[in-house]
Amino acid sequence: MKEFSILSIWVFFNLVLLQSSSCAADSSVVNPCCYYPCQNSGVCVRFGTDRYECDCTRTGFSGDNCTAPEFWTRVRLLLKPSPSVVHFILTHFQWFWDLVNNSFLRDTIMRLVLTVRSDLIPSPPTYNTKYGYLNWESFYNISYYTRLLPPVPEDCPLPMGTKGKPVLPDIKVLAEKFFRRKKFRPDPQGTNLMFAFMAQHFTHQFFKTNHEVPGLGFTKALGHGVDASNIYGDDLMRQFHLRLHKDGKLKYQIVKGEMYPPTVSEVPVHMVYPEGFPPEQRLVIGQELFGILPGLTMYATIWLREHNRVCDILKAEHPTWDDEQLFQTTRLIIIGEIINIIIEEYVQQLSGYMLSMKFDPTLLFNTRFQYSNRIALEFCHLYHWHPLMPDSFLIDGEEIPYSQFIYNTSLLMHYGVEKLVDAFSRQPAGQIGGGHNSHEVVLKVAEMVIRESRAARVQPFNEYRKKFNLKPYTSFYEFTGEIEMARALEELYGDIDALELYMGVLLEKTRPSSIFGESMVEMGAPFSLKGLMGNPICSPVYWKPSTFGGETGFDIVKTATLKKLVCLNTKWCPYVDFHVPRNEEEAKPRKPSTEL
Ligand code: HEM
Ligand SMILES: *[C@@H]1O[C@H](CO)[C@@H](O)[C@H](O)[C@H]1NC(C)=O
Ligand SMILES: *[C@@H]1O[C@H](CO)[C@@H](O)[C@H](O)[C@H]1NC(C)=O
Ligand SMILES: *[C@@H]1O[C@H](CO)[C@@H](O)[C@H](O)[C@H]1NC(C)=O
Ligand SMILES: *[C@@H]1O[C@H](CO)[C@@H](O)[C@H](O)[C@H]1NC(C)=O
Repeated sequence: MKEFSILSIWVFFNLVLLQSSSCAADSSVVNPCCYYPCQNSGVCVRFGTDRYECDCTRTGFSGDNCTAPEFWTRVRLLLKPSPSVVHFILTHFQWFWDLVNNSFLRDTIMRLVLTVRSDLIPSPPTYNTKYGYLNWESFYNISYYTRLLPPVPEDCPLPMGTKGKPVLPDIKVLAEKFFRRKKFRPDPQGTNLMFAFMAQHFTHQFFKTNHEVPGLGFTKALGHGVDASNIYGDDLMRQFHLRLHKDGKLKYQIVKGEMYPPTVSEVPVHMVYPEGFPPEQRLVIGQELFGILPGLTMYATIWLREHNRVCDILKAEHPTWDDEQLFQTTRLIIIGEIINIIIEEYVQQLSGYMLSMKFDPTLLFNTRFQYSNRIALEFCHLYHWHPLMPDSFLIDGEEIPYSQFIYNTSLLMHYGVEKLVDAFSRQPAGQIGGGHNSHEVVLKVAEMVIRESRAARVQPFNEYRKKFNLKPYTSFYEFTGEIEMARALEELYGDIDALELYMGVLLEKTRPSSIFGESMVEMGAPFSLKGLMGNPICSPVYWKPSTFGGETGFDIVKTATLKKLVCLNTKWCPYVDFHVPRNEEEAKPRKPSTEL
């Protein structure tokens, strides 16, 4: 009896809701695109009220749902190895890669990696959070992140389309059950905090979600790629304040004989700091959020020194150049250095590939490749790698808790760049995938990204699997590879086809001894490589010595390494890498006398 009355209240409630939400359309007819009927990247278009058509143009497939392969597609599918086979080959057979590494094959395979990955990213960009169909506004208005898949249509019967539960799981429950760290699990690939802070520092030049308009998918980073706006500011006014206006340099302060970013006392730009934080401790950086962590102010200091160092080199060769030309040319060199270090060291570390990664824009000169990029919302979401963060920070023999680390700008000057680099390079970062590895301090961020993705109506994980040519999972067990989380997820989501994207990329079973699972790699790498190589400096028009002030500048770009970046700007050379020490030699303590 009790059940019955609850049921009738529920039915009544839903009727009221339906009445108030149904507009002109007949609410008993489900929008057929809510079933995601079009496969292989076919485009679903609704006709009438209950009809749809899949546009299969240039997908290599035909039929109502773009499921029938054309002849050459059949051949291609037959010959194409699966992502896991390719990954296995790229991470095994040392002897083979030693051969490849030193021959022309390195170029061939690197070119293949770049083209196969970036071909998965539509260019020019397509949808955004407001528009699930192509249109001029969506192309033109760069305040939006683009989207690879259109939002779940507003009129679908269920939050994820037609599958799963009528209400998505409680976000706090998800954070507690699947994300909260039990015991720190280091990344089995040996990634360190130097990498983690690079990840955060690097990505926050193009991930700057505008939270003033929640759920709209707006970004404040209009460069949509590697523009070094995290160093120079994301608008001209900010850049104007950050610049010294002499010899192309950026403003700085000298503390204990070393160069550091200036403070708001001298440079009046907006920085986010806690209320009442003393102005003389508010460091000023291109990215307004970077005061929060010493790892970020450390990188800001390194890049600041590098910029001013390169200015001196250019000035020596071009005494006639004015401040503006020295600044602008140095900025292009800095962008080149960033891209080089990210591809040859950062992506190298992350991928675990035995193929030696190569930054060489000429590899793409005879392929068809668009030199443009638009940052995608999905890329921003999957890059929330907060499990990297440790339980506390080990610096120069001391253990520093978050409470003394966050917004502690004096810590940087207290230890100096050398000791921080040394400490962060030695301390392991957390494994990103597999769940249960997010420290308390960042648990809220996981909640935020899930909340945001619901507001933005991001399609289910399995739809993204298909978009990236991966087989959709058929069960939660297949997805996690264990029983406990699989059961809990099944109970909360009801259907694997209703699992959310962020849950998917973070909780998927990790590959053996890897930082995360297949989906993070297969989805992240295309966005990443397209963004790196789509930069204008990589185009045939720009990629030449004159762009960088001559051979000297061009060489700085082509030979940049993380170690040079640090050690050409410090008094002594610490242990510096994206990997924790691999052997006793590397593990030895460094002293101020160590040279590069
Ligand atoms: C203790 C360290 C960290 C703290 C306290 C922290 C905190 C935060 C907070 C509060 C947000 C805003 C969330 C929102 O409004 O949706 C955020 C966003 C983000 N974080 Fe972190 N984070 C940390 C480390 C990292 C690291 C190591 C990465 C590595 C990639 C990272 C990547 C991101 C990304 C990609 C975003 C989205 C940015 C945007 O959309 O504007 N974070 N983080
Ligand atoms: C196409 O997909 C729809 C919805 O998923 C399904 O009902 C239909 O049977 C499919 N048609 C064909 C020809 O496979
Ligand atoms: C982008 O769209 C938003 C919302 O419609 C609008 O406020 C803004 O002015 C647009 N920006 C441009 C450059 O058109
Ligand atoms: C690739 O070759 C370089 C030498 O050219 C060597 O230092 C490196 O270890 C090799 N990489 C791998 C993964 O074998
Ligand atoms: C900042 O870090 C320094 C050096 O570790 C420490 O002495 C100081 O107490 C910290 N400040 C705060 C407010 O935690």
